[in-house]
Amino acid sequence: MKVAVITGGGQGIGRAIAYHFAAHDYGVSLLDSDAEALAECAEHIEKAGGRSMYRVGDVARRADVEDWLAQTEANFGAADVLVNNAGILRNGPFLDLSEEDFDRVLAVNLRGTFLSAQGVARRMVAAKKPGAIINIASTRALMSEPGTEAYSASKGALVALTHAMAVSLGAHRIRVNAISPGWIEVSDWQKARLARTPVHSEADKTQHPVGRVGRPSDIAEACLFLAEGAGFITGQNLVIDGGMTIRMIYAE
Ligand SMILES: NC(=O)c1ccc[n+]([C@@H]2O[C@H](COP(=O)([O-])OP(=O)(O)OC[C@H]3O[C@@H](n4cnc5c(N)ncnc54)[C@H](O)[C@@H]3O)[C@@H](O)[C@H]2O)c1
Repeated sequence: MKVAVITGGGQGIGRAIAYHFAAHDYGVSLLDSDAEALAECAEHIEKAGGRSMYRVGDVARRADVEDWLAQTEANFGAADVLVNNAGILRNGPFLDLSEEDFDRVLAVNLRGTFLSAQGVARRMVAAKKPGAIINIASTRALMSEPGTEAYSASKGALVALTHAMAVSLGAHRIRVNAISPGWIEVSDWQKARLARTPVHSEADKTQHPVGRVGRPSDIAEACLFLAEGAGFITGQNLVIDGGMTIRMIYAE
């Protein structure tokens, strides 16, 4: 059985990635801070005939990450794929941004990715197993709205961490790539208690050259491609945004 480990897999894009890999015969192991979301996600995978396990924990804490990876290896064996998906934002006016909020966003989005990647890569190297690491960054690594400093900085750093790790781990046959999603609608991918049906205006859709807002499945499908079908691709940042960032805008 192939094994995919996914952070933030309880809800949103991470849940869609978990479902997609489980449907393609991976055992999936999830780390998420939300126990309710994890239980729902695991139940769905089991009902569909897949295999999953999870641990409730904080991706920013090495003890949680290491315990999760050790449990995963004991139950499923060494991972083939890691998706670093857990992420938070604390946006607001830059002049009021606290040191605590800045540090927390960096701790979850960047340190969490480093901890998971190092833990998984050490196990892949020990098992002499080739593998793929996929870091979920954001188009906000490349462009900004006002008041997104901590989040944008964390995602820009993720893109740099991606090419750095790709160079370090290449000799071990571990490829490392980033995906930068644009606007991906996740309101219908939250845990049942919070899920709601999204409503998009015509302007929401037509601002994207492809004519719609993104779906979690757009990202999940790309993760599987980068995991399995992309043997000559490493250190890259794949922008998946329906063309939003390549569209030139002039004020009217
Ligand atoms: N939705 C978008 O439009 C969009 C766009 C660009 C990038 N992204 C990135 O995609 C990833 C997933 O985003 P989403 O929209 O699905 O978010 P989401 O909030 O719907 O899901 C994130 C999941 O991560 C978990 N999580 C949060 N902090 C955690 C922690 N410290 N430890 C473990 N788990 C934690 C949450 O409990 C949740 O289940 C994030 O990295 C986000 O920055 C999302």
